[in-house]
Amino acid sequence: MKKTSQVSRSGRFSREVGADVAQFTQSISFDSRLWRHDILGSMAHATMLQKIGVLSKKECAAIVRGLDAIGREIRAGKFKWQAGLEDVHMNIEAELTRRVPAGAKLHTARSRNDQVALDVRLWLRDEITFLLGEIAGLQRALVSLGEKNSGVIIPGYTHLQRAQPVHFAHHLLAYVEMLERDCERLWDCHSRVNICPLGSGAIAGSTLPIDRALVAKLLHFTDASGKVQLTQNSMDAISDRDFVVEFCAAGALLAVHFSRLAEDVILWASAEFNFIKIADAYTTGSSLMPQKKNPDIAELARGKSGRVIGNLVALLTLLKGLPMTYNRDLQEDKERLFDTADTVRATTRLLAAMLHHTKVNPAACAAAASDPALLATDLADYLVRKGMPFRQAHHAVGAVVGLAEKTGKPLNKLTLAELQSVNPVTGTKFFGRDALGVFDLKRAMAKRNLTGAPGTKEVAKQLARWRAQLS
Ligand code: ARG
Repeated sequence: MKKTSQVSRSGRFSREVGADVAQFTQSISFDSRLWRHDILGSMAHATMLQKIGVLSKKECAAIVRGLDAIGREIRAGKFKWQAGLEDVHMNIEAELTRRVPAGAKLHTARSRNDQVALDVRLWLRDEITFLLGEIAGLQRALVSLGEKNSGVIIPGYTHLQRAQPVHFAHHLLAYVEMLERDCERLWDCHSRVNICPLGSGAIAGSTLPIDRALVAKLLHFTDASGKVQLTQNSMDAISDRDFVVEFCAAGALLAVHFSRLAEDVILWASAEFNFIKIADAYTTGSSLMPQKKNPDIAELARGKSGRVIGNLVALLTLLKGLPMTYNRDLQEDKERLFDTADTVRATTRLLAAMLHHTKVNPAACAAAASDPALLATDLADYLVRKGMPFRQAHHAVGAVVGLAEKTGKPLNKLTLAELQSVNPVTGTKFFGRDALGVFDLKRAMAKRNLTGAPGTKEVAKQLARWRAQLS
């Protein structure tokens, strides 16, 4: 390992660290991906140092040029990262200083503690924006699939037992709603990510008259009204990772939503349901069973929620016993954060692509939705309309279901006399000729039009609302 430690090891150290120590303590293997934001932060910091007279105009320009050149090399894959330089901050600063002597002034009034907090905030701010775009894409995929199958009705399930009929699109739109709440949570988290910690130093700010607001403005740390957002306590600012936890918590719930969607897709794709067919390109085969077509994307979406939940727990555990302020433990936050961000983003994209390549089997859906038992509740509502208290109506229809089971007839094939027979006293009063009309599925769906209900008109309205909102 090269001796490259001038940047952080002061005159106080008599020896270099051993290779095993360097390997154990390095973070360059994973934090190098912060390079773009590290460079942007340094450019803003240098600009401010020039404004307050720490750097001359020439020095500042040379530093910005040097950082820009380093950035280009990194992007082109030509930059040599050095493990001996520990992390992304020291790698870039050391190389800059090697090329531009004034680089030695760049760390004035700055510590890696506020620098890393800045870099992660800048990185996460972008990441949230990208993720929100991907989630909107998935929402659009769900809406499209619903629109293409707007006439399809399936059983809705509670306890995984057939409950009541719903438009297939209504089921899909349930996920659009969940994803919208995920977006709101991510935006909310964004408002707390978007606060500039630079100027907090190692723990206690600086005695130099730096201009925190200028740096924050240059890096767009402003709220919707343009007000500059600065952290208000230097100790909190350098040890705060709440925003990482918040993102990973929002990510965990997002992953749980993916997992539930995946589970529905997996069930629907089974021979038993047969509601959907996922295109070959989005399924995989079995190495042994030639007939298999497996919904692996959905299975992995479900499976990956485990690691995303794990990342959140790891972060909370990491933070819970930390004394103020910065402790090196905090370096462990990044892999968990990156893993959550990468996992949820990839899953969002793949689920959207899979849904765009999924076809619904209308015949199988219609066959399942034609089960008249799905409309037993409608028969109870019919009795309520005739004046029967709901509890009695529930009981009477229970008896009708029992009779249907006993006689081996579907509910809608019982005769009026059979319906009336379940209550010799009130049966004839409440069950009329029109009673069996409740089993007309189309009419039943036309009746479900409360706000948020799965009926024909309401679902069409909701599809149109989402289409407009997402375009
Ligand atoms: N690589 C470090 C981290 O990710 C940067 C901050 C190091 N600070 C320090 N005082 N050693 O946390």
